[in-house]
Amino acid sequence: MDRFMSVTDISIDIEYASLSTIDATAKYLRDRGITEPEVGIVLGSGLNSYADRLKNAIRINYSEIPGFISPTVAGHYGEIIYGDLDGIKVIVLAGRFHYYEGHSITRVVFPYRVLIRLGIKRMIITNASGCINRNFEAGSLMLISDHINLTGRNPLIGANIPELGPRFPDMTDTYNKSLREAVKAEAAAIGIELHEGVYAGLTGPCFETPAEIRFLATIGADAVGMSTVPEAIVTNHAGLEVIGISCLSNMAAGIIEDKEITTDEVDQTGADVAETFAKVVDIAVRI
Ligand code: HPA
Repeated sequence: MDRFMSVTDISIDIEYASLSTIDATAKYLRDRGITEPEVGIVLGSGLNSYADRLKNAIRINYSEIPGFISPTVAGHYGEIIYGDLDGIKVIVLAGRFHYYEGHSITRVVFPYRVLIRLGIKRMIITNASGCINRNFEAGSLMLISDHINLTGRNPLIGANIPELGPRFPDMTDTYNKSLREAVKAEAAAIGIELHEGVYAGLTGPCFETPAEIRFLATIGADAVGMSTVPEAIVTNHAGLEVIGISCLSNMAAGIIEDKEITTDEVDQTGADVAETFAKVVDIAVRI
């Protein structure tokens, strides 16, 4: 426990918040051939098949990468895939670490900081989420326009690392508006309707209660999930272009009376939308 900074916030893991640890992992990946990634993508539950689209791929298992953790959750892979998409060098995180797995928030965001130090300019964050907005439907995709951080955690707490961004970063345009509009227009041009809305990030791992979903609707959330927010904070902190794509995998708790939420449904919806999802991520890479 002596890696943790204080009894009041056990979520700051100083070793993994340090630039030298982050840079050591970046060097490890560079030495393995990941030399000039431009765009990063993290794939959410049930969405991992996207990685197969990359050409000339280098694949490295998380278990081999210093500071990375093998995922504990079924449906979450644990692999970095680096390759080309139409000549653009893309690095995919197939599988993410979640706070609910018991990792410090510093550990959760560690891979994104490594990608930042490898030089990516854009981060595409994807996830599966529960749909709160009754005008949207399960099985559709939502561009994240903003988020509400309800995790009670902030990955920037602790000493600021100036090389990774300013002490007090602005969050006004976290999910880059002009890119969002461009992605939406291109998707519409190939017949894909994308919703746009606010993502509420909770820690999980419980799905929410119906009362919590009513509360989230009241405060302006359109979707709810257990990831994304810490990742968006650190990549926005570093000045990257951030694009968030949420697969609305189920209607949130209580919206359909007495219907329970299962991970099977989340994974099944991910598989059902895989093709559309891939087209939208392709657009987000190229735009
Ligand atoms: N709630 C939280 N996270 C989720 C959900 C949900 O309903 N569906 C997929 N991820």
